[in-house]
Amino acid sequence: MKDITRICFIGWGVVGQGLTEILLEQKSELKNRYGFQFKVVAIADKVKGSVYDENGLDLAKLLKIVKETGKINDYPEGIKGWDSIKTITESNANLVVEASWTDINTGEPAISHVKAAIKCYKHVVMTNKGPIALAAKDLLKMAEKNGVQLKFEGTVLSGTPAISLGLNNLAGSKITKIMGIVNGTTNYILSEMEKGLEYETALKQAQQLGYAEADPTADVEGYDALGKVVILSNVILGANITKDQVPCKGITKITSKDIEEAKKEGKRWKLIAGVELKDDGSVEAFVKPQKIPLDHPLASVGGPINALTYTTKYLGDITIVGPGAGREATGYALLTDILDIHRSLTK
Ligand code: HSE
Repeated sequence: MKDITRICFIGWGVVGQGLTEILLEQKSELKNRYGFQFKVVAIADKVKGSVYDENGLDLAKLLKIVKETGKINDYPEGIKGWDSIKTITESNANLVVEASWTDINTGEPAISHVKAAIKCYKHVVMTNKGPIALAAKDLLKMAEKNGVQLKFEGTVLSGTPAISLGLNNLAGSKITKIMGIVNGTTNYILSEMEKGLEYETALKQAQQLGYAEADPTADVEGYDALGKVVILSNVILGANITKDQVPCKGITKITSKDIEEAKKEGKRWKLIAGVELKDDGSVEAFVKPQKIPLDHPLASVGGPINALTYTTKYLGDITIVGPGAGREATGYALLTDILDIHRSLTK
């Protein structure tokens, strides 16, 4: 049968479990409404352990066990102890959900996971920015050569369809500029600081709410937004830039006093990321905090909500606004990719 029927998860933290909960909740709707039927056959997580059952895992049971003990190995059935590469290559899964942690400097271990999956002709969906920011073109070429799909909607604006808007819906519109707020954690912190919270408390809350990266330095220093702007530049605008070519400044130097002063000026601090296509075909990208007038559309985008404006020749500005981070929102991004692959395989 030419469809995704067997799924494995590599990494089962906030995002992986977020998708699992959505799959459980929607199992019959996915079948009845979209004709999508699946089993999750394996889960491998560096910290929690791994399990493989070719006939499918009981996801509700596994979620409950991991909530109680933190260990996948406590699941009573199945084969235990496979590492991520063995799970990818030797399980009978035909789609890999890559949800391990993001390393924006090396892209590892996720790049190795994606390559291993593609080499054994398995589709991949991911929200991990590392591999796409560092090696999108190579990985997409490799996937095409092997006749499998690699999808990454959730790498920018989580489940808010910013990538498919730029790549599919706005194809041919001549996009000249992409700009907006692309990091949920920092936007949340800035919003909370404006309400009077200390920076450290706001950051802690963003971590508890599942918005922040495993190492939140990536959020607050702007590296997460940097990865996203590189993805937008290379994947949507067809550029070939690396993160080292993009000036990047985060929000760590913004104090409560700065926020108060901006308020008095009728302005609000936002971490803005953008990229512009030049006449000679090159691009210029940046990540930096900016004071935005309160009547500017981006000023009202608060909390973990993000926004991205595509400036196009034929339509002018098109803006998409929605969640940029969070367990459900990012888990859902993986579901849109899975359904997209399912649709293309079964049409
Ligand atoms: N840490 C990221 C953010 C998660 O806060 O936006 C979504 O990419």
